[in-house]
Amino acid sequence: MSKITVIGTGYVGLVSGALLSDFGHQVICVDIDHEKINKLQQGEVPIYEPGLASIVEANCYYKRLSFTVSFKEAIETSKVIFIAVGTPAREDGKADVQAVLKAAKEIGTYINEYKIVVDKSTVPIGTGKKVKEIIEAVLKEREKQIPFDVVSNPEFLREGSAVHDFSHPDRVVLGTESKKALNVMKDVYGVLYLNETPFIETNLETAEMIKYASNAFLAMKITYVNEIADLCERVGANIQDVARAMGRDGRISPKFLHAGPGYGGSCFPKDTKALAQIAKENGISISLIDATIHANEKRKKSMAEKIQKAMGSVKGKKLAVLGITFKPNTDDMRESPSLTILPQLVQQGADLRIFDPKWEKEGKWRLEQIKDHIVFCQNEYEAMVGVDAIILLTEWNQFRNLEFNRMKELVHGKYFFDFRNIYQRKEVEQYGFQYYGVGC
Ligand code: UDX
Repeated sequence: MSKITVIGTGYVGLVSGALLSDFGHQVICVDIDHEKINKLQQGEVPIYEPGLASIVEANCYYKRLSFTVSFKEAIETSKVIFIAVGTPAREDGKADVQAVLKAAKEIGTYINEYKIVVDKSTVPIGTGKKVKEIIEAVLKEREKQIPFDVVSNPEFLREGSAVHDFSHPDRVVLGTESKKALNVMKDVYGVLYLNETPFIETNLETAEMIKYASNAFLAMKITYVNEIADLCERVGANIQDVARAMGRDGRISPKFLHAGPGYGGSCFPKDTKALAQIAKENGISISLIDATIHANEKRKKSMAEKIQKAMGSVKGKKLAVLGITFKPNTDDMRESPSLTILPQLVQQGADLRIFDPKWEKEGKWRLEQIKDHIVFCQNEYEAMVGVDAIILLTEWNQFRNLEFNRMKELVHGKYFFDFRNIYQRKEVEQYGFQYYGVGC
């Protein structure tokens, strides 16, 4: 078993730290955010992620998992140091790697014996090399010669199913030049190795590239199916059947073929833009990715237009909104389609009654600019009282079995916009609602 440090306690850092301790390792998580660490030390998990809180609690209890703000303590005590800090998009679309480089400086400052530095943050190709250079430079200043290796180990977990994804990955990518580091990393992921999870062993740059190429491909796949959905609507075809049939082709696979209001979240928008920038800097245009970014922006905007077109106008209309997070099982609203669609509807004169099982965490501040036109509700039925239309934006499970008989009595108008295609037209129309899906 290894002694592991994880720098950064965001989604990726906290899930990685908790699960690595669950694999049996001794893990210490460090963060510059004192308040967050304070909460974690008291057993409070700052993000909503199914299954995570109990894993954190159990491993803290068994003293395999702990939290600190002391980089000195965290770095000195471990052999393997994961960097899992945020790399948000800058104004120009480039990934901001400042936090990663800062973590490298801390490592250089406190490294006391051989360490393996593992980058888990999504970073532009070449960042691993920079991390190495920074640690070497700090060591030079300290007039110390301490050996270390750098590994790129991108993370592919999804929010909402992060615990499962981390412990059942499709593959583990390990990019490094060092055989020694590779062997230690195989031990870190020993549980998965024994489960026959494929391990991709490659160099630093390739590992960094794999993450961007994968995420951008998935964003492109969703965008493709969204555009085909638009065409389906025009020609009387049904995207659900089209996608199901396409997915049966082993070369395509059924995953990430669900048409919707456009992709959001903390990764796809940021990673597609970063990849486009990396390509540009290298004198290459990946036109498919440029087109994906453009089409997704356009798509999010077109959703409000679709509502207006169906209703004639939304001026003076009351609309029930079901779901505002970018996907179910998360309280994260980063780049959520709701942040584009709802302000547009308000601008056109609509008032909104919103319910999302997790609206309380971010709903109010993210929609601050339209707050005078929003009533936040305690459940989906309260949101429907007296409205002219219902708009389903996020496919939370509790929206999959709506009581249409009850809804009939609550609503004023009969428009039902199902932007996640979780209902069948016939099913909804039998209650007198007018159904609008995407691409069907
Ligand atoms: C994603 C990647 O899946 C993960 O591998 C990476 O490490 C981080 O980014 P995440 O952003 O948590 O994970 O969510 P994901 O489930 O991939 O969904 C991203 C967006 O795409 C959501 O807005 C979702 O609604 C949308 N989506 C997804 C679709 O519109 N259709 C689909 O078929 C799948």
